[in-house]
Order: sequence, then C-alpha cells, then structure tokens
Amino acid sequence: MAEQRRASLPDDPTFGEVLRAADVVARDLPATPLQSHPLLDSAVGAEVLVKHEHVLPTGSFKVRGGVHLAATLSAAEQEHGLVTCSTGNHAQSVAYGARLAGVRATIVMPSSAPAVKRDAVAALGAEVLVRGDTLGESAAAARELAAASGASFICPTDRRIVLGHATAYLELFRQAAVLPGGLAAVYVPIGSGTGAAGACLVRDALAPGTRVIGVQSEAAPAGWRSWRSGTIETAPATTRASGLATTTGYPLPQRVLRGRLDDFVLVADDEIDHAARLLATRAHTLAEGAGAAALAGLLAPRSPDRSGRPGPVAVMCTGANASADEIARLGAVSTAA
Ligand SMILES: Cc1ncc(COP(=O)(O)O)c(C=O)c1O
Repeated sequence: MAEQRRASLPDDPTFGEVLRAADVVARDLPATPLQSHPLLDSAVGAEVLVKHEHVLPTGSFKVRGGVHLAATLSAAEQEHGLVTCSTGNHAQSVAYGARLAGVRATIVMPSSAPAVKRDAVAALGAEVLVRGDTLGESAAAARELAAASGASFICPTDRRIVLGHATAYLELFRQAAVLPGGLAAVYVPIGSGTGAAGACLVRDALAPGTRVIGVQSEAAPAGWRSWRSGTIETAPATTRASGLATTTGYPLPQRVLRGRLDDFVLVADDEIDHAARLLATRAHTLAEGAGAAALAGLLAPRSPDRSGRPGPVAVMCTGANASADEIARLGAVSTAA
C-alpha cells in the first residue's frame, strides 16, 4: 500500500512544519482523548477508537487552525484584520484565533449556516455578516469585502490552517503508537479537505502502514469529484451536515490528497444521522453531522473496512456543534441501521 502512494511535491506542507505547528498549538490547546467504547465496538462489529476532537474550545478540531494562524499572522494581517467565509467551525476557529491575537475578524456566513454557529462566532467577538445562500457565494462576498476594506482574506485552506489541523493527526498517531501493530485505518470527514490532507502528511511520516480514508456526504461531493478526476471540480451542496457543505474542491488539500488518500467513501445524510445516534447512545458523545461522518464512512457497505480487515480503526469525531435539527434527529428511529 505505502509504496503505491506518491511522494510529496516540493510545495506541499512538510512534516517538519507540522511539528513546529504542534508546539504552537500545544501552548493554547490541550491534547484530545483517543478512546475506545466497548458498546460502540459491539455495534460496529470491530475495534474502533474515537478521536474526540469535539471537546476542544469552539467544539471542533478547526480551532487548531485558528490558533496556529493567530501565532503566525503577518504585520498587515495584524494591522488590518481578517476576513473569512465559513459555514461555522472555521468561522469560530478564526474568531477564536483573532481574539487570542487581539486582531479584528469579520466572518461571512451563508444563510444556510446554523444559528447556533452564527451565535457562537458573534460570542467570540467577531463580526458576522450573512451573505449568500451557499459557501461559494459567501466566499465571493468575503473576497470583495477584503479587497474593499484592506483586511486580509483568509482562505479556509490557508497553509497555516492546514498545518494547524494536521496537529490533530500528530497527536493521534503518537497516541496510537502504543497499539501492537498500529492502526489499520483512520476515517476522516472531508469538506475542504484540510483535515484529511493533514492526516496524510503525518501518516506518511509516522505510520505508513495505516490507511487514511476520506468520507464526504454524497449530497456535497465536490471534494470527491475533484479527487477522482484530478482537477478542481464544483458540485451542489445540499447536505444537512453544515461542516461538509462545500461546493468546490480546494487546490492545496487536493494536491496533497491526490495519490496519498487511500480511499474516499461517499455517505448519505441518513447514514450520517445514524452514526450520530450511535455516538450519542454508545459513546456518550454529541456530534454534529460532520463530526459523525467518519463513523458513517466506516459503517457504509462500501467501506474498505467492512470486509473484515484486521486491526483497530480510528474515526475522527471532529465537531460537536449540532444544530437544533440535528439534536432533534438523534431521537428519530434509524432507517440506515
Ligand atoms: C466538524 C467538522 N468536521 C469536518 C469538517 C471538514 O473539514 P475540512 O473542511 O478540513 O475537510 C468540518 C469543516 O468545517 C467541520 O466543521
């Protein structure tokens, strides 16, 4: 498997940069647990370790990117402030980092972003502007605002952010190093692909025998399409999982994922809901849709690990910012079981 993966390209983020980012991130954020839940194992029929990234401040792994960004701002970014676009968790991450660094942040969010995420961004002290119905429309508005105001547009896949997110995988692979035989696979939810890119970077350095499997909603498949075709593609995003509602592939993560991500599974939103119910009832974990998607990918009939491969598998629980609708659906009877 490992020898079929392509080597890194000259401009790819490096493992050395991830190590330096981890020193920065560790100054502000605690390590998150990697835990097994016997009830979840019995429901899945395999040994599953959950990386509980949702316990971080802001309720998502994305805060790692904001904290790293905050420590690496240019003089212009500090002086004129930041503008970005997000459906919610990148927004909170940049707002958190901006507050840490004492700089202004304006976050442009689509009308489809859950109210709970808009409120959380405002509570962190950032200015929230609702522009457009999709992330793509918000991104265009954010770029215009940055050009007009002199603030710096922070792309959700800024290299500093990818490096911050990669620190979750440095932690994970170090925690998993005590497992005899290591991890067979890590399941990672994909929206823009920053987390999965970070997973591949760290895996290549620390655990080449572990497969990295991406998971995306079939109702927002732009990243999957881009990975398959090798070119940046767009697609409609109608998924209920706001963290996965991206409408385009993103060049930097796609470049890293190409030839290094071992597999990419699409799941239905009902399968994501089922996984969220399992996390709630079998792993005492409240996950939003994007946070449950990795488990949904492992459970999907087309998952490469449903055919009984040996070895423990890790799933990234990336976020806990469930909307009122997502919380209500936890009580619904599962149709995807
Ligand atoms: C909770 C959660 N999980 C996963 C993702 C997907 O991460 P990425 O966009 O880095 O692929 C997001 C994106 O916002 C998210 O909020």
